[in-house]
Amino acid sequence: MLHSALINVMVKAARRAGRSLKRDLGEIENLQVSLKGPANFVTMADRRAEEMLYSDLSKARPGYGFIGEEGGSRVGDDKTHTWIVDPLDGTTNFLHGIPQFAISIGLQRESTIIAGVIYNPANEELYIAERGKGAFLNDQRLRVAGRRKLDECVIACGLPHIGRGDLELSRVEMSEIQNRVAGLRRFGAASLDMAFVAAGRLDGYWERDLQPWDLAAGQILVREAGGIVSGIEGDDEPLKSSNVICGNEFVHAELVKILKPLAK
Ligand code: IPD
Ligand code: CA
Ligand code: CA
Repeated sequence: MLHSALINVMVKAARRAGRSLKRDLGEIENLQVSLKGPANFVTMADRRAEEMLYSDLSKARPGYGFIGEEGGSRVGDDKTHTWIVDPLDGTTNFLHGIPQFAISIGLQRESTIIAGVIYNPANEELYIAERGKGAFLNDQRLRVAGRRKLDECVIACGLPHIGRGDLELSRVEMSEIQNRVAGLRRFGAASLDMAFVAAGRLDGYWERDLQPWDLAAGQILVREAGGIVSGIEGDDEPLKSSNVICGNEFVHAELVKILKPLAK
């Protein structure tokens, strides 16, 4: 299938960094048995992937700004365009050899995300979205699931862990949702959680305390697949509020109704 030159640039960069992460994943199995574990190795893998992405994206579009999780912000001459990149989303999964992780690349123009690519090199699933042109998984057009009853829905969430986020609030949120749905999941890679919503595999997803690189590509995928994405207030922008609720319009509204009052 034919995509724009812009998407081709993003896909090429994601695939090259993906090959590097996949090789590194193979190494991790050997390091798992050592006492120190693969933590340092993963940090290197993560940085290497980001450098590849920066090099490829900035070569193809000189002047664009770049915000990456590992290298911070790099300002470009073109103040209207910024790449927002997570070179390895799902680090804990990667560290444990669990094949649920991804490279996530979003492109922001002014304050709007106009393109997103999410690539899981472990199973070669490639998600693509461009503003006004739809969302795709390996060239198959995506559409969010159509379920309207929460008790038939499978919903994913993020879980804060020791030293991070509000553990108590997350337990309250989880139990409120758990009481009302067919299944609750925690997969561990925010970008793929949103990609799964876009693909109709998940009916909805929410998480707090995320960063722009967790959200940028995922939010355009869900929107281009016909879904609604907001922060937990229901009408706020995830990139600004750092939290997210998404799903079809019914599921999104139900989740907002349940989750919004809990934080007060
Ligand atoms: C994390 C993952 C995870 C989410 C965390 C993120 P990282 O990103 O997306 O699913 O729960 O909050 O920070 O650290 O693996 O890039
Ligand atoms: Ca991340
Ligand atoms: Ca990361």
